Amino acid sequence: MPSDLAIGIHDLSFRTTSLVLSHTELARRNGTDIAKYHKGIGQRAMSLPTADEDIVTMASAAAAPLVQRHGTDRVRTVVLATESSIDQSKAAGIYVHSLLGMPPNVRVVEVKQACYGATAALQFAAGLVHRDPQQQVLVIASDISRYDLGSPGEATQGAAAAAMLVSAEPALLELTGPSGLFTSDVMDFWRPNYRTTALVNGKESVAAYLEAVQGAWRDYHVRGGLPLEEFRAFCYHQPYTRLAFKAHRQLLETCGAQADEEALDHAVAATTGYNETVGNSYTASMYLALTALLDSPDDLTGRTLGLFSYGSGSVAEFFAGRVRAGYKAHLRGAAHQEAVGKRRAIGYEAYRELRERTLPTDGGWYELPHQTQGPYRLAALRDHQRIYEAA
Ligand code: CAA
Repeated sequence: MPSDLAIGIHDLSFRTTSLVLSHTELARRNGTDIAKYHKGIGQRAMSLPTADEDIVTMASAAAAPLVQRHGTDRVRTVVLATESSIDQSKAAGIYVHSLLGMPPNVRVVEVKQACYGATAALQFAAGLVHRDPQQQVLVIASDISRYDLGSPGEATQGAAAAAMLVSAEPALLELTGPSGLFTSDVMDFWRPNYRTTALVNGKESVAAYLEAVQGAWRDYHVRGGLPLEEFRAFCYHQPYTRLAFKAHRQLLETCGAQADEEALDHAVAATTGYNETVGNSYTASMYLALTALLDSPDDLTGRTLGLFSYGSGSVAEFFAGRVRAGYKAHLRGAAHQEAVGKRRAIGYEAYRELRERTLPTDGGWYELPHQTQGPYRLAALRDHQRIYEAA
């Protein structure tokens, strides 16, 4: 196997849900100064699922364009990362595999470590491709973020799935150099199996995230990573987009570099466009930041990007990627804009109604209303099973 083999992201696509609640509407009803949402946390709206949408329907919608463009002949592995899992045993990716009509000779697994899961999946995928460069791996990050009503976290909800095809000689981004890793046993954010909403110590979570930026970067540096000046831009995990700017300030200060507004904007501003209107999509969030950056008008050919992935609890990784020549021809910016732009805006009352609804757990037969605008839907529940269909 050639040691200079390039491995990385060959194709990248994201989808979100069909409904959207604006922060203006939320602020109007809970009495918050809208500047806190728009400037303080950098959020304008959040995606919300209809009754017939979940992590499987989003994941399938995100991955379908990759399967349409590349086929499935070379895909031997599907890894779906999520922290909003729908089953304690069966991997959600098996439903995706079925909806997308993939052949049986494929391994499918689910991975979890809060918002970091998709980065673990990407690294596992790179290892598999390294072992057999003919193979491709479909990595999907899919999450729905839910906090208690009226809690500080409520304004940082959201939902999305990002799908990546990982291959040798990738068209978009080559993964380069070492990874900087940082794990710390903290209770900043968690969700016990019996809860549908996350528990969070908000301020502690921000502090833990920023400490992880420092820890992961230092490890990256010690392991011979590139110096700060080599990077054109940085994609951070974005539970809310303002945190990406704070994170970059932390990184610049760790490096003893000037951390003024211009430097922060230059490195981070182009990564926030999708996340500020989709909200926190947990493990998909950093990949929506990367998508926004690649979809931006700048020509990033040959430039190095920094990626910082953080999952509460906590595990973090800093790694680098080099943008491939000709990448713009493979982007899906129009489809991403459409996915975000076609969501139906709902008011606060409808949002509260949605939040009060829960799926029955008695094993009966329930058909779900057809509400999604997406290509796949959760059609029914029967005998404790989820029944999906093409919409
Ligand atoms: N105008 C402008 N700015 C304003 C403002 C106004 N009127 N009012 C407040 N602000 C600013 C504040 O100064 C603050 O800015 P700084 O962070 O720079 O100090 C910002 O808006 C937020 O204000 P508060 O800290 O008062 O907000 P809060 O108490 O409501 O909590 C939060 C914010 C902690 C992020 C909360 O939304 C939360 O708990 N979210 C969920 C947890 C989270 O997202 N944690 C992030 C790290 S953990 C992680 O990354 C994993 C994950 O995905 C969850």
